[in-house]
Amino acid sequence: MTPALDILGLKKSFGGVAAVKGIDFNVNAGEAVALIGPNGAGKTTCFNLINGQLKPDAGSVSLFGENITSRSPEALFRAGVARTFQITATFATMTVRENVQLALMSHNGSATKVFCFATSQHAARADVLLNDVGLQSQSSRPCAELAYGDLKRLELAVALANDPRLLLMDEPTAGMSPQERDGLMQLALTVCRERKLALLFTEHDMDVVFKFADRIIVMNRGRLIAQGRPDEVRANEEVRKVYLGSTHV
Ligand SMILES: Nc1ncnc2c1ncn2[C@@H]1O[C@H](COP(=O)(O)OP(=O)(O)OP(=O)(O)O)[C@@H](O)[C@H]1O
Ligand SMILES: [Mg+2]
Repeated sequence: MTPALDILGLKKSFGGVAAVKGIDFNVNAGEAVALIGPNGAGKTTCFNLINGQLKPDAGSVSLFGENITSRSPEALFRAGVARTFQITATFATMTVRENVQLALMSHNGSATKVFCFATSQHAARADVLLNDVGLQSQSSRPCAELAYGDLKRLELAVALANDPRLLLMDEPTAGMSPQERDGLMQLALTVCRERKLALLFTEHDMDVVFKFADRIIVMNRGRLIAQGRPDEVRANEEVRKVYLGSTHV
């Protein structure tokens, strides 16, 4: 089976700092993979290399067998690579539904032309997406009024509007309560299974990682030091030493 995402020999330095030192891994369609490691391990840099915000010094990124290395974020977005946006990317004065409609319009290339008609465009499809993430009852509220956990679910709906084949979530549950974390990740996992999309997420909460990841990839100082099923990673001596510590496992 061709992996949804296939990374080979990826490298990136910032001046004298080698952030990613040549790593290989893949993610299959319908699979949820956690990329973990201590602060500064190179996880976010990997995400930026995958979605085109950074160009690698060496190595390749392939999407379903097609080499997409160094394409622009816009081209990759059109090719089906989505990333959950930061909270600030939602338009606070617009309603929940309008934010999703705008994302749908952007998917269809019409956002810049008809920004002000968001209320009439794609309303039905927006409601389906909002129903999928459990926000339908909030669809007419301005985003500024939403609770933090609901904003995160809105981010997911906005990312899904592009009908992605690969979804990148960088610390999606940061700042959430344990209950909200489980809710959001369960939602992401359901979407991953139902749409057969490849999900790659970073996460510092090991309870979330071990509960929701099919496979875990561990980075430390720019290198991949382990990968495998949660039970394999949990038992890995080097991982325990550099990251997990005895209290987490
Ligand atoms: N734009 C940049 N310019 C210079 N150095 C950078 C830049 N981005 C990242 N780095 C450095 O690259 C290394 C990897 O950083 P990165 O943000 O990828 O780590 P991370 O694993 O996402 O960490 P965290 O868990 O804290 O989010 C760090 O040493 C960081 O300081
Ligand atoms: Mg990071």
